[in-house]
Amino acid sequence: MIVFKNVFEIKEFLKNKNSEGKKIGFVPTMGFLHEGHLSLVDRAKTENDLVVMSIFVNPLQFGPNEDFERYPRDQVRDRELAQNNGVDVLFIPEIDDIYPRSLSVHLTVKERVNVLCGKKREGHFDGVVTVLAKLFHIIEPDAVYFGLKDAQQVAVVEGLVEDFFFPVEIVRVPTVRERDGLAKSSRNVYLSDQERIEAPEIYHSLSKAARKLSDREGDLRSILQELKQSINDHTSGIVEYVEAYTFPELTQLEQLTGEILIAVAVQFEKARLIDNIIVDLG
Ligand code: PAF
Repeated sequence: MIVFKNVFEIKEFLKNKNSEGKKIGFVPTMGFLHEGHLSLVDRAKTENDLVVMSIFVNPLQFGPNEDFERYPRDQVRDRELAQNNGVDVLFIPEIDDIYPRSLSVHLTVKERVNVLCGKKREGHFDGVVTVLAKLFHIIEPDAVYFGLKDAQQVAVVEGLVEDFFFPVEIVRVPTVRERDGLAKSSRNVYLSDQERIEAPEIYHSLSKAARKLSDREGDLRSILQELKQSINDHTSGIVEYVEAYTFPELTQLEQLTGEILIAVAVQFEKARLIDNIIVDLG
């Protein structure tokens, strides 16, 4: 595994690989790697000649009251995991490498953001698309891999790539779960022991709701109400939202056809967990 910190050095290296006709798969991350990230690497390895991973905790996508300082970091472990799992090129820039001066152009996401997490995290997706636009220019990947756990991020990035004609394929990778169903997340470490026992109920309740929607058992409103009730009844977390939209447009559902995203966010004492299921109603 080759490690780069410098933007121009990695650009030069990958330009040569590109001209040798190597297919480049890219896995952007903020580090503190878990099996979710490694599943993206596994998938990228099967579809590319070279797998590039970036580790960069992007300050631009954290709000003033969010956990930028507290966001878990462990570079030694991350390097080892990346190396042992077949990453070929690791890019670990510093903040000054990515943002050497204040931005003279700002990207603002206009659609797919006023729902779900985007509603509360003003500016979050502006930060995500800004750093990804930079990373896409640096890496010039053929394909980029995103986990569906953050379905809104996938929807927003698909919008970015379509709007700006980035010559990259977005690959949606299914959420990786613990054995009891809890979606893997860097933030799970913030759960107390009791909360960790309760948290899988989020996925169990979501699965029940998805089955009811597929079987058209009841109307959407009552399915979502039952979902919220079930999480309230079985966990000490506070349900922040339970919502359903068309996917990936994230618009209100006018009819029950096509891909439908059912998504939840639950606030525990120190961890805010999100999860979702996409139901394809054809
Ligand atoms: O999903 C993440 O870890 C981040 O939002 C990403 C895509 C690496 C951009 O900073």
